[in-house]
Amino acid sequence: MENPVRYEAHGDIGVIRVDNPPVNATSHAVREGLVACAREFAASPQKVAVIVGEGRTFIAGADITEFGKAPREPHLPDAINVIEALDKPVVCVIHGTALGGGFEVALGSHYRVMLRGARIGLPEVNLGLLPGAGGTQRLPRLIGIVPAAEIFTSAKMISAEDCLALGIADDLSNDDPFEAGMAMARKVLAEGLPVRRVSEMSVPPTDEAALEALKKKVARANRGHVCHLKAIEVAVEGTKLPFTEGMKLERAAFWEMMQTPQRAAMIHAFFAERKVASLPEIKGVEPRDLSKIGIIGGGTMGGGIAVSCLLSGLSVTLIERDAESVEKAHNGIARTLADSVKRGKLGAEARDMLLSERLLVTDGYDKLSDADLVIEAVFESMEVKKDVFTKLDAVCKPGAVLASNTSYLDVDEIAAMTKRPEDVIGLHFFSPAHVMKLLEVVVAAKTAKDVVATGFALTKKLKKVPVRAGVCDGFIGNRILKTYRTAADIMVLEGASPFQVDKALEEFGFAMGPYAVADLAGIDIGYLTRKRLAPTRKPGERFGEWGDVLYELGRLGRKTGRGHYIYDDETPKGRPDPEVEEIIAKERRAKGITPRDFTDAEIVERYMAAMINEGAKVVGEGIAQRPLDVDVTKLYGYGFPRFRGGPMHYADEIGLAKVLATIEEAGKAGDDIWEPAPLLKELVAGDKTFASLN
Ligand code: 3HC
Ligand code: NAI
Repeated sequence: MENPVRYEAHGDIGVIRVDNPPVNATSHAVREGLVACAREFAASPQKVAVIVGEGRTFIAGADITEFGKAPREPHLPDAINVIEALDKPVVCVIHGTALGGGFEVALGSHYRVMLRGARIGLPEVNLGLLPGAGGTQRLPRLIGIVPAAEIFTSAKMISAEDCLALGIADDLSNDDPFEAGMAMARKVLAEGLPVRRVSEMSVPPTDEAALEALKKKVARANRGHVCHLKAIEVAVEGTKLPFTEGMKLERAAFWEMMQTPQRAAMIHAFFAERKVASLPEIKGVEPRDLSKIGIIGGGTMGGGIAVSCLLSGLSVTLIERDAESVEKAHNGIARTLADSVKRGKLGAEARDMLLSERLLVTDGYDKLSDADLVIEAVFESMEVKKDVFTKLDAVCKPGAVLASNTSYLDVDEIAAMTKRPEDVIGLHFFSPAHVMKLLEVVVAAKTAKDVVATGFALTKKLKKVPVRAGVCDGFIGNRILKTYRTAADIMVLEGASPFQVDKALEEFGFAMGPYAVADLAGIDIGYLTRKRLAPTRKPGERFGEWGDVLYELGRLGRKTGRGHYIYDDETPKGRPDPEVEEIIAKERRAKGITPRDFTDAEIVERYMAAMINEGAKVVGEGIAQRPLDVDVTKLYGYGFPRFRGGPMHYADEIGLAKVLATIEEAGKAGDDIWEPAPLLKELVAGDKTFASLN
């Protein structure tokens, strides 16, 4: 693009247009253009200027693609200072989203008008950063430290109406951006409104108790992150100083954050999330129709999938086994929707409409004759699934997409039950399906391209993140999970306690450790998995069996008040149960294992090495297309800490040779899971990274 910022004279009003698709990010050329246009306005006869963005949004922030490269002048804070220092008023019009540096440009302007529906935000913390162009210094001067810190530590988008109430916006408009800006500029002229610089305002008094409470909340909610508390510190300390000194403090902290691995990890996650959604193999392929969805099975998953579809405007016909199950499934969906109403996410009327007009729960398969896409979510049994797909083949219209939500089973084998395997695909949702963002789109051998495109189109409609996966036991996510769970179990057999493993991994950044997760999901799930895997086990294969003892004792986890942990009124989140250590010690004795000590660092190292090794196998075999697909799977489906970017990014960060050394060391005990991935060995030999394959 030649000149992404243009100056135009409209009588007494100068218009500065920012035109840098897709989101008007403040690239180097935009920063240069802003400064040049501000100077042109200063030298012009125009009396007031309007800054307006072209296209779908005002400026959505700094250009993230420039991060990590050598910074080029003019820096954004300097460009904003030039605008703010003008001695003729500047009006900024916000449409779409004014985010990060975009909102900071608006804060450097003297007046702000927002279109209804527009939003502002300071989402830098989502990228491991803090606002770096005055957000921590101007916003507190405008609205106070605590309200400002709530905005820049939460990364939440704030509506135009809330901005007006907070004093961020001076006016709201229903016009188009240009007209809204011109109207505000005419008002400034007519009323002779002066230049009004936020940097010259004094900070409103701070409610110290509210500030302390916010710090505690932010620390709790962002365990492991460094940028959130740093941003508060910079706002508090910087606003005690003259504005220019405060800006220096902010700048130093911004650059400090820019050098952190957390920033690199979170920006990797940002781009990876977008890259997984644009699959080259379906570029230009039209998806099939997608308005009537069928679901088979209304249990945990089917019910959640139904809610997700209903909330996205799709009609749902859900098939259950018999009248009793129909009622149970209907009630389950109604309960989840009622919860959405309670939490203010859905209006009561909209809920009633969804239940009466968009949802049919029945036991008649014939009601699926006009469904565009059917998602099977019955018991995880090949026999039951085969029976269901045979029925679907008989009743569904030609061209209907037939999907399975199976967690592990062979989608090719399921597809073979139909006369139309090209229409069959895996759509692997995560629990709770109306909440979890990840959806593995499992492409079987004969799946048609437009069926893959339809799977991706569905994820977009449901506002989920799609990852393309190939067929294997557990696809990307559960296959890798099985390996690192086994690695954890082996460490426990060798002497670590489940509680130490959980604690070490929680400190690393996981929301929960594997044994706390097992208690939450139900000890019965692991038990059934072990039973399913029993025929495939090799003689002498090591794996943890204490879960079977817990199962037999009826200690199924949270739902029975006891699993690995004890859950009661005293400790609703659970406390370690010494009896579990006893059960494990007995298993060690029976297996002739002499326990040894593990450090927390060793636990993390091994757990991560197992995850990375299996991830490399999954990529090497083409089950995942690139390392970043593994990262996105773990980030969005398995609680992997975002500030570490995903396992494959983390592997690059610590060095692949080190990972391979850990694998080889752990493998000395002879467990199969430690067989090094050929791809990993290849990358180490070539001194390459996983990122080179993205
Ligand atoms: N820099 C560079 N590219 C960006 C970008 C940015 N700030 N924001 C979005 N893009 C790109 C995306 O990568 C995508 O590219 P692609 O089409 O090649 O995949 C394209 O713009 C469209 O983005 P989305 O697919 O995300 O479009 P949506 O309409 O769904 O969302 C959005 C638009 C809400 C603006 C969303 O893109 C977003 O949240 N962007 C990030 C905003 C942000 O974090 N801003 C702060 C940056 S840090 C900063 O400003 C520092 C400052 O304080 C100094
Ligand atoms: P569930 O046991 O809660 O629900 C299964 C439902 O299917 C029951 O309501 C049952 O009545 C119904 N059903 C069984 N046979 C049927 C038939 N022939 N016709 C119509 N309905 C029938 O099971 P859940 O947990 O919902 O799992 C369903 C599928 O989703 C399984 O394949 C599972 O592996 C997969 N899955 C489960 C996840 C989880 O966390 N629970 C996560 C991702 C996938």
